[in-house]
Amino acid sequence: MGDKKEEINRRRTFAIISHPDAGKTTLTEKLLLYGGAINLAGSVKGKATARHAVSDWMEIEKQRGISVTSSVLQFEYDGYCINILDTPGHQDFSEDTYRTLMAADSAVMVIDAGKGVEAQTRKLFKVCVMRKIPIFTFINKMDRDANDTFELLDDIEKELGIATCPMNWPIGSGKSFKGVYDRKKQCVITYSDTQKGTREGEALQIPISQLDRLTGFVGEDLKKKLLDEIELLDGASAPFDLKEVQGGVLTPVFFGSALTNFGVEVFLRHFLEMTTAPLPRRADIGLIDPVEREFSAFVFKIQANMNKAHRDRVAFLRICSGRFDADMEVRHVQGNRVMRLSQPQQIMANDRKILSEAYAGDIIGVFDPGVFSIGDTLCIPKEQFCYEGIPTFAPEHFARVRQMDTMKRKQFVKGINQIAQEGAIQIFQEIGSGMEEIIVGVVGVLQFDVLKFRLENEYNVDIRLEPLPYEHIRWIEHHEEVDLNALVGTSDMKKIVDLKGNPLLLFINAWSVGMVLDRNKGLELSEFGRN
Ligand code: G4P
Repeated sequence: MGDKKEEINRRRTFAIISHPDAGKTTLTEKLLLYGGAINLAGSVKGKATARHAVSDWMEIEKQRGISVTSSVLQFEYDGYCINILDTPGHQDFSEDTYRTLMAADSAVMVIDAGKGVEAQTRKLFKVCVMRKIPIFTFINKMDRDANDTFELLDDIEKELGIATCPMNWPIGSGKSFKGVYDRKKQCVITYSDTQKGTREGEALQIPISQLDRLTGFVGEDLKKKLLDEIELLDGASAPFDLKEVQGGVLTPVFFGSALTNFGVEVFLRHFLEMTTAPLPRRADIGLIDPVEREFSAFVFKIQANMNKAHRDRVAFLRICSGRFDADMEVRHVQGNRVMRLSQPQQIMANDRKILSEAYAGDIIGVFDPGVFSIGDTLCIPKEQFCYEGIPTFAPEHFARVRQMDTMKRKQFVKGINQIAQEGAIQIFQEIGSGMEEIIVGVVGVLQFDVLKFRLENEYNVDIRLEPLPYEHIRWIEHHEEVDLNALVGTSDMKKIVDLKGNPLLLFINAWSVGMVLDRNKGLELSEFGRN
C-alpha cells in the first residue's frame, strides 16, 4: 500500500479533446508507448480491428465500426501515475463526452495543423472553460502541409477566446518540415521521421546562435523565416505565466507530429510539469481537500450492458479525495445508505482489472445494481456531503417518440426512464401533454439508434422516432420567478419540461434565442442545466 499523500500528488488526470481525425488516438497511443503501457503502438488503435477491442460493448458499435463509449487508460511515466480519459472521437459523440470532462483535472486539445479549430473541439472547449481547467494544445500533423503558424494561433485565440503561448515554433511543414525551435532552450530540435511505434528519435539540438550550422540543416530560406518569426513572436505573443495556464486562461502550444513520433515526449514532459495533481473540489460543505480528507468520489458516467453476457451496469467514479480500498464501506449520500462497492475495477480498454486500492485522481468502475445516478456522491460512512452536481448539457437533436405497441406501455416507460437515468438521452414533455407525448433530446444522433436498439433488445419495445427540427435548447434560469405564460416567444419556439419539471425552451434557429432574450427583459437562458 502506497503512502497516501505521495500517491495522490503523483497523479495526473486529463482528457484529450479534439475533432475526429485530428490525431487524438495516435497521440494517446504514443503517450502510452512512453509509459510502457503497451509494447507496440497500434494496439490502441487500428480503426477496423484493434479499436474494437478497446471499448465495444454494443452490437451497434460493431455494426458502425465506431466507438460509442469512452474508456480510461492508466499508465506510469517518470514517477507520475497518469490517467487519460478518452473521449469518443466520432462526430456522433454523446453527453458522456462532455461528462468525461467533469472528471478531468486538465485537458489536452489536439488540433490538425492543416485544419485549425473544428466544430467538436469548439463544443468540448466550452465545457473546459466552464470548469476553468488548464488546457494544453498540441498542434498535430506538422509532417503534412500546415496552415500558417500565426494564423493557427490566431484561430485558437479568436475562435476559443483563450490566449496562446507557443512553447516551441515549427520550421516549415509537410515535405519541408525541419523541426521546431524550443523557445526556452533557444535551440532548434531537428525533425526525424522515426518509424511508427519506436521511441522518439535522437533529434539534434542546434543552438539558434549557431547560424551556419542551422542553415546547413534547414536551408537559408527557412532559417530567415524562422528568425523573422521569432522576432515577431517575442514581441507579440502572451508571456508564459504558469498561474494563467493553471487558471485556464492561457494555453501553452506545442507543435509536432504524433504519427511520426515527433514532439510527443517533449510535450508530455512539459505537460506533466505544468499541470497539477488533483485539486480540491467543491461540495456543499465547502472545498474538499484531496489529501487531507478520507475517501470521496462522484459518479460521472453510467454505462449499461458493457458485457452482453452479464447485462450489468457499471458506474464510473472519479475519486476526489483519499484512498479507496476494495473492501471498505462507503456512504452513497443520495441513496442515504452505507454499502460495499461491488467488484471495483479499473476499466482499461476491454480489460477489467479488479482493484485493491485506488487514490484521488483515479477513475474506477463499480457494479451498479441500479441505485446510482449521474452526479451522486460517495464518501466514508461518517461523512455526509454532496459534490456539486454535474450539469446537463444541451442536446442538439430532438425527436418525438411513438410507441408502436400501446400494450407495452409499462415496459416502454420503464425502459426510457432507465436509459435517461444513465444519461444517454434526455426526455421532455410538451407542456400540458402528459407522458403521452415524449420528446427525446440527444447530443449526438447516434444516441437515437442506441435508444431504439436498446428498447427493442432489452425491453422488447418497438418505437418510431419522428425527427423534430429543433436544434437549440435553453434552460430558464431562476424559473420559479418567471411567468411562462407571459413569455413573448418566436414562431419557432416550443415550451417543454424535463423529468424534474424544469421548464425549457426549444428553438429551430439560433437567432431566435437572442430575439426571445431581447423581447423578455431580465430573462436569463443557459446552455447548461443544473441538476
Ligand atoms: P482521432 O482519434 O482524432 O480521430 O484521429 P486518429 O489518431 O485516428 O488519426 C486520424 C488519421 O490521421 C489517421 O490516419 C492517422 O494515422 C493520421 N494521423 C494522426 N497523426 C498524424 C500525424 O502527426 N501526421 C500524419 N501525417 N497523420 C497523422 P488514417 O489514414 O485515417 O488511419 P490509419 O489508416 O493510418 O490508421
